[in-house]
Amino acid sequence: MRAFSHSKIAVNTGGLAESISYLATNETPQILIVETDATGDDLYQALEGLAEVCSPDSKVILIGPENDIDLYRQLLGMGLSEYFTSNITAQQMAETIEGMFTEADATQLGRVIAFVGARGGVGSSTMAANTAYVLSKQQDDNVILIDMDLAFGTAALSFNLQQKQSLVDALAQPGRLDDVLMARFMLKYDDHLSVVPSPANLGGNYSIDLEPLEVLMKLVRQMSPYVVLDLPHQWTPWVSEVMADVNELVITAYPDLISLRETKNLYDAIAHPRGDSAPTRLVLNRVGLAKKVELTAKDFEGALSAAPDAIIPFDPANFGTALNNGQMIIQTAKNCKASQQIGRLATLVAGKKNKKGKGAKKSAFSFLKSTG
Ligand SMILES: Nc1ncnc2c1ncn2[C@@H]1O[C@H](COP(=O)(O)OP(=O)(O)OP(=O)(O)O)[C@@H](O)[C@H]1O
Ligand SMILES: [Mg+2]
Repeated sequence: MRAFSHSKIAVNTGGLAESISYLATNETPQILIVETDATGDDLYQALEGLAEVCSPDSKVILIGPENDIDLYRQLLGMGLSEYFTSNITAQQMAETIEGMFTEADATQLGRVIAFVGARGGVGSSTMAANTAYVLSKQQDDNVILIDMDLAFGTAALSFNLQQKQSLVDALAQPGRLDDVLMARFMLKYDDHLSVVPSPANLGGNYSIDLEPLEVLMKLVRQMSPYVVLDLPHQWTPWVSEVMADVNELVITAYPDLISLRETKNLYDAIAHPRGDSAPTRLVLNRVGLAKKVELTAKDFEGALSAAPDAIIPFDPANFGTALNNGQMIIQTAKNCKASQQIGRLATLVAGKKNKKGKGAKKSAFSFLKSTG
């Protein structure tokens, strides 16, 4: 199961008796799932034996034959984490395990919102930067925008920030990375918004490895309640991993047939790994540029079974002014339709209970979810 792709799993046969003898000589795992057919005194005796060899920190899930609420209460009273009968489904088990680890973590870790274009040049980076800015204002809280388009990123430029270092430098030293060092790679835009820029020039043939990215993501989620990722329009292993596991994924598309096909492909590819509880949002951008030949929001809704979450008009004057000023559109044209739509999108991706990561998806990939 994908959710546990970063976990080490060992399966032994032999029930409670075998667990006890195994744990007598081996380290206790974080989670122990034991299936037994023992009942009554035999069960209690075996559990006492287990308690002697099992570390108190580990979580024990028991699967037994009896469907009895009193027994259930007694077992939880003895310190078991959960008790199920053998008709538990794999999905229920996965959710139980995820719940055990995310309850504590989700309140501390930032919500990750990733932006990707259905095709190149559709305005995805513009949406990422504007949403990050508006989010910080709406929530009056910290947002870190990370420009992951290593070759052609524009985040620093769009906020008119001077950069020396970049995401590449931060990823180069995962062993040393802590919040103090990480802060050196972040450009402060104002009290709440910081930007981790991509390299300012084409320079090296950069790529992103999952392991240092995992370290960095865990850190930034501890540093800020919101992390916005500007992803490149690529389908590489790390991009698809990130897309699968972020709390919110926002796809920006231009209202034409190619964008529709690419959006549908993306939806189909990520629907399963993202699961039902993780929203994928759609932004239609530059709407009205070619009115007569454009597809409509309804066309997208028909193909994707979901209506666009924001419809941004083609507005070269306002976007152009903002770009030239090194500002966001809400700063230069607060009341235009694009600003309003971006405001709506920011509220949406913040989640319902949008303080400090509450309501965050129980995401699967460890670096986006747990403290490991
Ligand atoms: N609704 C809009 N109306 C007019 N111009 C827009 C609009 N949205 C974005 N732009 C402009 O389009 C240009 C490209 O936008 P942006 O860099 O955000 O696209 P992208 O999808 O990130 O491209 P890439 O694939 O290169 O990463 C920018 O100059 C931006 O100001
Ligand atoms: Mg971009």
